[in-house]
Amino acid sequence: MPNKLPVGILGATGVVGQRFIQALEHHPWFEVAWLAASDRSEGKPYAEAARWKLKTAIPDRIARMVVSPPKPDGAPKIIFAALDAAIARELEPQFAAAGCAVVSNSSALRMQSDVPLVIPEVNGDHIKLIDSQSWRRSGGGFAVTNPNCSAIGLVIALAPIHRAFQLEAVMAVTMQAVSGAGYPGVASLDILGNVIPFIKNEEEKMEEEAQKLLGTLNGGKVIPAPFAMSAQCNRVAVEDGHTESVSIRLKKKVKAEDLIAAWNDFQAEPQRLHLPSAPERPIVYMTAPDRPQPRFDCDLGGGMTTAVGRLRPCNVLEWKFTVLSHNTIRGAAGAALLNAELLKAKGYL
Ligand SMILES: NC(=O)c1ccc[n+]([C@@H]2O[C@H](COP(=O)([O-])OP(=O)(O)OC[C@H]3O[C@@H](n4cnc5c(N)ncnc54)[C@H](OP(=O)(O)O)[C@@H]3O)[C@@H](O)[C@H]2O)c1
Repeated sequence: MPNKLPVGILGATGVVGQRFIQALEHHPWFEVAWLAASDRSEGKPYAEAARWKLKTAIPDRIARMVVSPPKPDGAPKIIFAALDAAIARELEPQFAAAGCAVVSNSSALRMQSDVPLVIPEVNGDHIKLIDSQSWRRSGGGFAVTNPNCSAIGLVIALAPIHRAFQLEAVMAVTMQAVSGAGYPGVASLDILGNVIPFIKNEEEKMEEEAQKLLGTLNGGKVIPAPFAMSAQCNRVAVEDGHTESVSIRLKKKVKAEDLIAAWNDFQAEPQRLHLPSAPERPIVYMTAPDRPQPRFDCDLGGGMTTAVGRLRPCNVLEWKFTVLSHNTIRGAAGAALLNAELLKAKGYL
């Protein structure tokens, strides 16, 4: 495949790393050329190192690939990173400093002022922050991040509404899938038949990331969107798909049909550029009174479409509705892949 760009995956054996391998298997622009993980996996064939949890098989070529140490020497120049934040904070800057384009999933660099936090349908213009990164100026490398898996579905659903009618206040309560905690993640005895009303740092991430994502780029800085935002996060016994109950207040008076049209008509740069991972419809409004549901709806648009439903008046704010987004696809590997496609389309790769 001589014309494809070689890419590497840092954290290739984890839940998100596996989703990267699955999504890149038939990708028209990128080809997996390098896999890295911890010293537990280093030196082993991928099939032996990874506890593969997806329904599709490990591609043969990948199964035989030997897992490399997480060092930039010998790594390709495009790196998808799926590491825990503490390790990412140490390793991602090393790869960027070595001249790599680091397309990261972790929270380590998301809120750094010169690092773009991007959803291509929402704030693709923030990618210009790359030009102010010191790695970029010294060796050409840079880092770009995608949001937390519960922030992304929420922000995609809010984006067309905020643009047209301006948000004043947002309250979101999440019901998050266990795959969001990685593997082995939450112990089965903790989650079976249970709801855990705490996910460390998740509420803070949702609140600050939503404001950065919907903020405006001004003079090389992102001015956060000024709406009030409150999140409450819960872990539930669902395999994949984060569901959120959302209430909002808007500056402008609108009717329900205005909001539904804003969701259903939403099209953005990835759709206009026909980026390979862009869903045909970023948002689908579901009219059935009991949808969306994670078991049936989280794979819409190959896991890249955000499902919205149950729009109705809210007696405290103004409107309330339900959002569903696939946490390891739209919320992780698919988000990073779409970021990389946007970077390529804009000439950064
Ligand atoms: N799961 C989701 O829905 C989701 C969504 C959005 C963002 N994220 C973020 O994506 C990142 C990865 O999450 P995950 O769910 O895939 O976690 P995971 O299943 O626990 O996988 C972690 C990966 O990091 C590797 N790793 C651990 N220590 C390392 C080290 N010292 N050096 C190099 N590699 C090391 C592991 O390798 P070994 O197998 O060798 O230990 C594994 O490949 C996290 O920052 C997470 O917050 C996850």
